[in-house]
Amino acid sequence: MEHATIDRPAGTAADWTISQRWNRYTAAEHAMWDHLFERQAKMLPGRVASEFLDGLDVLRMTKPGIPDFDELSERLMKATGWQVVAVPGLIPDDVFFDHLANRRFVSGNFIRTPEQLDYLQEPDIFHDVFGHVPLLANPIFADYMQAYGIGGQRAANGGVIEKLSRLYWYTVEFGLIRGSADDLKIYGAGIVSSYGESLFALDDPSPNRLGFEVRRLMRTKYRIDDYQQNYFVIDSFEDLLRQTLETDFGPIYAELADAPDIEIETILPTDKVYTNGTQAYARAKAAA
Ligand SMILES: [Fe+2]
Repeated sequence: MEHATIDRPAGTAADWTISQRWNRYTAAEHAMWDHLFERQAKMLPGRVASEFLDGLDVLRMTKPGIPDFDELSERLMKATGWQVVAVPGLIPDDVFFDHLANRRFVSGNFIRTPEQLDYLQEPDIFHDVFGHVPLLANPIFADYMQAYGIGGQRAANGGVIEKLSRLYWYTVEFGLIRGSADDLKIYGAGIVSSYGESLFALDDPSPNRLGFEVRRLMRTKYRIDDYQQNYFVIDSFEDLLRQTLETDFGPIYAELADAPDIEIETILPTDKVYTNGTQAYARAKAAA
């Protein structure tokens, strides 16, 4: 996603977009997409938010393999007015926010190699497109993503952007949602695009699972190198959008300016606790 201080590479447009160059993908790269797609599409029913499954058809292209962004954008445009554009990996915060505010989702154009099947450091096109695009076909979530982009444009300084990026992290990337039977479902792109974390986030006793609360979440650190130790659970996408739109972030930032960060594994007396995690997974990794 975004990054603050980098130079625009040669060959990118002023808004940092590049051509996807769909015709350059090899048969092996298309096969990698198909493999990952089938594996996730098979395991996700029953685990993922119904809104994500409803949006999955938008990815079933007329050609097999990696989706062609032109065709994908045409479909998404009809559904919710969003497009998908290719960028060369990391882009500056202001460019990222500007794209979201204008209903353009930015995606890398490379796909992982067989050696990176279950672990890669930089998000690839499978993470970006399979993970993020199905929910962009949902009108409520589509509005939430745009609202986030507009919120980012308003957030002028770095300290505030860090708090805002935690909102993105704990919702768009690693969010959980209450299902219709009061069970938990996954919806964050970092989870749904990962076979291992799709299991871990719901089934493992290790991580905390806590109720979503904007101020609390904006103070909470997160980890980027392994499965999360903490997930926040929203009641519904309507509620997420409402809390984001109705909340004037200005006073929240002022209120949180001097509030200390909350360590990842901490549970507060005010938290709504779905799971008081053992943290066994993270401790075993730390000890290894
Ligand atoms: Fe992502």
